[in-house]
Amino acid sequence: MTHNGDTAHATGIGEMLISSRSLDEYRSMFHLTDEDLSRKILDCPGGAAGFTSAVNRLGGDVTACDRAYFDRDTEQLAVVAAAETERGNRYIRAHTEHFDWAFFADPDQHARVRRHAVQEFAADIRLNPRHYVAGRLPSLPFPDAAFDLVLSSHLLFSYSDRLDHTFHLDAIRELMRVARGDLRVFPLVASGSSVRYPRLDDLLTDLRNHDIAGEVVEVGYRFQRGAHHMLVCRHIASHGSVAAGSV
Ligand SMILES: C[S@@+](CC[C@H](N)C(=O)[O-])C[C@H]1O[C@@H](n2cnc3c(N)ncnc32)[C@H](O)[C@@H]1O
Repeated sequence: MTHNGDTAHATGIGEMLISSRSLDEYRSMFHLTDEDLSRKILDCPGGAAGFTSAVNRLGGDVTACDRAYFDRDTEQLAVVAAAETERGNRYIRAHTEHFDWAFFADPDQHARVRRHAVQEFAADIRLNPRHYVAGRLPSLPFPDAAFDLVLSSHLLFSYSDRLDHTFHLDAIRELMRVARGDLRVFPLVASGSSVRYPRLDDLLTDLRNHDIAGEVVEVGYRFQRGAHHMLVCRHIASHGSVAAGSV
């Protein structure tokens, strides 16, 4: 098993996808309220999601961070992200039985939403490149406690066929280092599976040993079968209390 996910594996989608979820998906996956969206947010990995563009357009303060932003200029990223959106939709059409058609009515609606999100991403990264920061977990280019809220969708747990337990622990510790408030991670199942990450209890114990409390919280988003929960992480203060959160 590789540590950093650079090697393609046969399970799930195959090579790691640069996907393009929408603001509505983020709201639903992460239980985000309007108050949450007014906080200073890090989205890591941001991929080609429309979230950063959409929230900042509404007056928010979101930074996206992803390793995909390292090697390509904005034009190349836009082209790759559009192609990746089509690859993701082809996968879903080939595996419709792995999905609940509740959030999306059908694969056509999925394609429409994701194409719109990737267009928002492509337009925004051209206009506001400073909102898209190249970074590679488990080491991020931000100071401690730089963000009120940190979101992480479809990297951790999703690719647990190729990202090992140490990577999950180190990545969550790093995401928490830059979080003043909570970290929310979704989903807790691997791509192509509906079974929860088998070492979640070990991970929660390891996190607690690093003064991080993790809580599994059900969310309303229904798409990948079995992916109904996020992990909410909070700092444990030196006197043992867990920082209050809004979830
Ligand atoms: C499936 S996409 C998720 C993107 C976005 N959060 C969404 O839900 O649409 C996974 C992303 O993780 C990024 N990624 C993979 N390994 C990474 C790492 N070690 N650090 C930062 N980003 C990484 C990939 O480049 C890809 O864009």
